[in-house]
Amino acid sequence: MALHNEEEEEEEPHVLMVAFSAQGHLNPMLRLGKRLISHGLHVTIATTHLQPGRRLFKPSSSSTTARDIEFLFYSDGLDGRKVDLDTFMDSLSQHGPTNLTKLIHQNYHTAPADANNSTGTRKTRRRRRLCCIVSNTFVPWAAYVAHDLGIPCAMLWIQPVALYAVYYRYYRNLNPFPTLTDPDLTVNLPGLPPLRTEDLPSFVLPTNTFGAFSKLFSEMFGAMEKHASWVLANSFHALEADVIINSSKDLFPVVPVGPLVDPSLLGKGEEEEADGAVNLWEVDHSCMEWLDEQAAGSVVYVSFGSLATLSADQSASLEMALKEGRWPFVWVVKGTEAGELSSSSGGGQGIVVAWAPQTKVLAHRAVGCFVTHGGWNSTLEAVAAGVPMVVYPQWSDQPTNAKLVEDVFGVGVRVRANGDGKIVIGSEEMGRAIREVMDGPKSEQIKGNARRLKIAAGEAVAGGGEGTSEVSVRKFVDEIIGR
Ligand code: UDX
Repeated sequence: MALHNEEEEEEEPHVLMVAFSAQGHLNPMLRLGKRLISHGLHVTIATTHLQPGRRLFKPSSSSTTARDIEFLFYSDGLDGRKVDLDTFMDSLSQHGPTNLTKLIHQNYHTAPADANNSTGTRKTRRRRRLCCIVSNTFVPWAAYVAHDLGIPCAMLWIQPVALYAVYYRYYRNLNPFPTLTDPDLTVNLPGLPPLRTEDLPSFVLPTNTFGAFSKLFSEMFGAMEKHASWVLANSFHALEADVIINSSKDLFPVVPVGPLVDPSLLGKGEEEEADGAVNLWEVDHSCMEWLDEQAAGSVVYVSFGSLATLSADQSASLEMALKEGRWPFVWVVKGTEAGELSSSSGGGQGIVVAWAPQTKVLAHRAVGCFVTHGGWNSTLEAVAAGVPMVVYPQWSDQPTNAKLVEDVFGVGVRVRANGDGKIVIGSEEMGRAIREVMDGPKSEQIKGNARRLKIAAGEAVAGGGEGTSEVSVRKFVDEIIGR
């Protein structure tokens, strides 16, 4: 059923972004939403109800956007029940399409949105012209909802274009990949360095045990080829030129619109509000004052994103490396009482927080190195802030991101597994990697590359129609408004 009803539609075009309810998916969606708002669109993010007891900590509408992004929630069919990942994904793909469709009818076409507010007073009927649905990898069915409703669909690819190329070629059988009988096969893809097993995303390895994700990627490429009119990527031309050029020749074209990082990060740095994220945990700002007291470029910032947690052995190695190297540090340890850890683990040399204002930390002049799992948001935030990285990849796209950081972007080093491929790295190796970034023989070269990429990142999103990503966003907006 098409939603067009000229009598009822408002003039102003709306975009509905359907985000998977995970930190690493919400942030790039929100930041793309802000860019679209700056081009005159109205933006709503739809995601599933949060687990009981969870809150969404939203940014204030302060500096970067004149309008707020609205959040709408629909049911994943589980009513707050905690289940394993496979059950969750099954329930989401079973109930998501119906519930999202209902939500769209309520808010865009069939019924007055928020017909009654909390005091029971009837609100004005809102009619909005829904000109595009933006979905992402983990909600591939949103493309079918858009198609059924006659609304144009775009997908936001939240990982590097390199990963788009790797997954596309893997799921469409366009290249040989390692198998159980040939587990060490090196993968050669256009525009990328040769990828060994340790450089490939864990989901394409024969040892992959996350069937739910493989199914999702497969469904995503199917939905994309059938119904998406655009694939937007959180990357920028100067960062991944070779693979972007090669992918657009052979694969469904992908349009870089990144880095999707708050623009204030790309500018002058720590004095600005760099609050471009939505948070699933409450931000502890206590580390900012502590950072103010530290020397420029002296601090190691440690964070492994929203999903990965280090084992006790991994944490112990890292802690020992930091102590031996005497580097001041800010360390994010999720779900732990930061205060307790500050006294036991930080010990005056560092500060431990449960959830940091990451983009602000990275933009602070005191931070000289980011020890990261290599999640793509964290990687791009560091690139945008010009902070070199030590990448300690855990799973998913992170091994490939580590390869890019070290060998393609040249803005950091990767910690090396032992000969037996164990993911637990000793403190000597952690120390070696941090030293190499902070003051080793290659340090100046790495820092210089980081400074250059920071400038290129800023240029890509520069306003005034100049930056490559900004031009692409404008073109996208013109196309969806014109449809
Ligand atoms: C997931 C996957 O794990 C990752 O591999 C993929 O590239 C994206 O989706 P996640 O592990 O959460 O993401 O990592 P990342 O992509 O780095 O996103 C984490 C986000 O949380 C970043 O935007 C970061 O700024 C934010 N963050 C992290 C905070 O705001 N505070 C913190 O203390 C830690």
